[in-house]
Amino acid sequence: KRLVVLVSGSGTNLQALIDAIAETGPGAYGAEIVAVGADRGGIEGLARAERAGLPTFVCRVKDHATREEWDAALAEAVAAYEPDLVVSAGFMRIVGKEFLARFGGRFVNTHPALLPSFPGAHGVRDALAYGARVTGCTVHFVDDGVDTGPIIAQGVVEIRDEDDESALHERIKEVERRLLVDVVGRLARNGYRIEGRKVVIQ
Ligand code: GRF
Repeated sequence: KRLVVLVSGSGTNLQALIDAIAETGPGAYGAEIVAVGADRGGIEGLARAERAGLPTFVCRVKDHATREEWDAALAEAVAAYEPDLVVSAGFMRIVGKEFLARFGGRFVNTHPALLPSFPGAHGVRDALAYGARVTGCTVHFVDDGVDTGPIIAQGVVEIRDEDDESALHERIKEVERRLLVDVVGRLARNGYRIEGRKVVIQ
């Protein structure tokens, strides 16, 4: 299967996919990364892609007159690589109608909290501030809400008394990287269907 991965930051989830595919071999893993896209330049996620010899593209919101035009341009850039699955791995943008019309049902996101708790851009901080004792990460399909799509898999992380946002986020990301690699491989190898809110991996 062909994967396009979207990033906005450090790209450690992307790196985990790159490493897993290199170690397992694309055949046995079930997928290869055909391109990495970003909403900004100069980020470590793009550098990781380049070091791995992967094609990259950047689609900036500010280079487009409207949000809709950006969304359509992003969809076009992704579609050029003919992906079977698109993975948002720390991609900090909400996609729009056009993107979802083309990639809905095959657009996977990873979120650093146990959804439906703590959606949005500050899932780690919000769980900590709420005083939750456990949090974690959720890999889910993207729908037209913010972190509301059908859940594929979750990983649990205990919150420690001494945790601050960055220490907790680091422990979540360790679990998140393993979960994402596992889920994407299983989706690619086995196929899946989405029945309402339920994702069934065959
Ligand atoms: C991940 O925790 C992701 O869920 C969140 O941002 C982090 C991205 O990390 N939204 P990286 O860029 O993959 O290192």
